[in-house]
Amino acid sequence: QKNYHNILTESHEKVGLITLNRPKALNALSSDLIHEVNNALEKYDDDPNIGAIVITGNERAFAAGADIKEMMDKTFAEVYKTNFLGHWGKISDIKKPIIAAVNGFALGGGCELAMSCDIIYAGDKAIFGQPEIKLGIIPGAGGTQRLVRAIGKSKAMEIVLTGRNFKAQEAEQWGLVSKVLPADKVLDEAIRLGQEIASLSQPSIQAAKESINKAFELSLKEGTHFERRLFYSLFGLNDKKEGMSAFTDKREPKWTHN
Ligand code: CAA
Repeated sequence: QKNYHNILTESHEKVGLITLNRPKALNALSSDLIHEVNNALEKYDDDPNIGAIVITGNERAFAAGADIKEMMDKTFAEVYKTNFLGHWGKISDIKKPIIAAVNGFALGGGCELAMSCDIIYAGDKAIFGQPEIKLGIIPGAGGTQRLVRAIGKSKAMEIVLTGRNFKAQEAEQWGLVSKVLPADKVLDEAIRLGQEIASLSQPSIQAAKESINKAFELSLKEGTHFERRLFYSLFGLNDKKEGMSAFTDKREPKWTHN
């Protein structure tokens, strides 16, 4: 196992868990931390024994944003030339499903990291927000794009333009979060969800994720075309044969993931 300084990793029966671990800084997302998250995500993505990934923080904070102390003295030339937040996009290349288990603050980059995951479970005291406007900047890791797709223009505008926080219950009502749970149950339930997903055929899970994500990129006509092509391609899998045979034989399928 690799020596990480800002995260912890452990696997729970087919689910890879990444715990953000800078508790003193409320898990502020420094560049080093994001590099470590990317590295851990890639390792789990390549590991045939892992079928889903969970990212979590601690009870006080999922993450309170990008590291303000790291950004404080940076100039335009520096952030532009180095494409400062460029590596935050890596998470979108991960093929396996990623679940965010959010307790406490998910602010700025923390909210954006959660929104970059495929499913969000939140604790009943979780707080979301994009407070960047109060720092004289705007969200820079997809917040203005993903929030509007998740909750619509008027609410996204209100949140980003005021920097006001919102609660887990609101996030669920608006469709950003799929479930709100008691704080001490969030991680267990996220892992359980990961295990349920990981018990299915990996190629079809990956295809389903890929196809849903295309809904954000393509027109309905192109998207349904893409979906149908991918659907046809799954007929080349042994797991398709196995899944349908198991149904007609009235038995549980044995997936071989190919
Ligand atoms: N970056 C760096 N350090 C942070 C941080 C951040 N985003 N958030 C919290 N910390 C640090 C604090 O500086 C403090 O450190 P010290 O003990 O050394 O002073 C420690 O974490 C604890 O924080 P507080 O004392 O502030 O705790 P609190 O309970 O009083 O307040 C809070 C909690 C409301 C979340 C407050 O910490 C806060 O407002 N944090 C910043 C939130 C924010 O603005 N996030 C957006 C960042 S910009 C961004 O994310 C850009 C992007 O789009 C990628």
